[in-house]
Amino acid sequence: MKHNVVITDWGFPSLDIEKSVFASMDVELKHYQCKTEDEVAKIVSDADVVMVQWAPVKEKAIDAMSRCKGIVRYGIGLDNIDVSRAKEKGIPVRNVPDYCLSEVADHTMALMLSLQRQVSRVDKLVRQGVWKITPPLALPPLRQSVLGLIGFGRIAQLVAKRARAFDMKVVASDPFIPPNIFDEAGVGKLEVDELLRTSDIISLQCPLTDGTKHIINQDALKAMKRHALLANTSRGGLIDTTALISALKSNTIAGAALDVFEQEPLPMENELFDLPNVIITSHTAWYSSASVGELQRRAALAAAELLGK
Ligand SMILES: NC(=O)c1ccc[n+]([C@@H]2O[C@H](COP(=O)([O-])OP(=O)(O)OC[C@H]3O[C@@H](n4cnc5c(N)ncnc54)[C@H](O)[C@@H]3O)[C@@H](O)[C@H]2O)c1
Repeated sequence: MKHNVVITDWGFPSLDIEKSVFASMDVELKHYQCKTEDEVAKIVSDADVVMVQWAPVKEKAIDAMSRCKGIVRYGIGLDNIDVSRAKEKGIPVRNVPDYCLSEVADHTMALMLSLQRQVSRVDKLVRQGVWKITPPLALPPLRQSVLGLIGFGRIAQLVAKRARAFDMKVVASDPFIPPNIFDEAGVGKLEVDELLRTSDIISLQCPLTDGTKHIINQDALKAMKRHALLANTSRGGLIDTTALISALKSNTIAGAALDVFEQEPLPMENELFDLPNVIITSHTAWYSSASVGELQRRAALAAAELLGK
């Protein structure tokens, strides 16, 4: 019997990798560019496996699946999938947990270093004809800075290793990671409130869940040092964007470097674009010439496994 593999949406140069993985199997590959749950619900009814990158696969879409053996997320985060509903319907959900860990850790460092050394800010000033040997902000040196990681999973542990090479003191908050992992990494374990109060740079490294949504809100921003810098390569929903914009405008914190946003693409009218103390990248942290193919190959292999191949 022919199996239907339905890709709800994708952003790769081509689907040649998926086609080559499925070539020897009796698979019909159908692919779309769905943006809404209604669009997803319309195309999944006869899917044996659903592969999804960013489209919302929530209750309505899952209920429309009549014979689905599994859902594969192209990526790590599962926040665009209603995992509990899939579980209730007995549909397994797979992700690709480790195709880009070092890329995201490197990107986190790049954002933090650019922010802390004021690289992109001074670059813009120089191009406008401003040549000054002191940058706009007086920040402490990295060797005297504390990096606070919210979440101490796989990517955070790689960030900690890199930050320690810059002589930074690293602390982290993660209720689900045992103390020995912190000890072995030379990282102090703190409650999130203390981390917010004592860190010079804060980087978000946890998933977006009901418990972490807007973990950085007005109160969290007020608790931070005035020269604190915030980096986010995890998920936009971890930050209350309105509260962040107001904190950046009032110098409640000194700057932010963001790869992910509550709404993506970030609308051009968003005020973040007008703030000089913000660095923006377009959810590119995961990407390298190696990680993209690896993501497609591993996702296709996970789909094949769900089909029993
Ligand atoms: N920007 C990108 O291109 C990109 C690429 C890959 C992953 N990501 C994001 O990075 C995130 C982290 O990835 P990872 O591989 O390190 O995941 P991981 O699962 O290894 O680590 C996440 C950690 O967050 C912790 N956590 C959960 N709730 C928490 C809370 N309330 N407070 C503190 N910690 C909490 C978990 O215990 C876990 O240890 C992913 O969820 C994903 O959203 C982004």
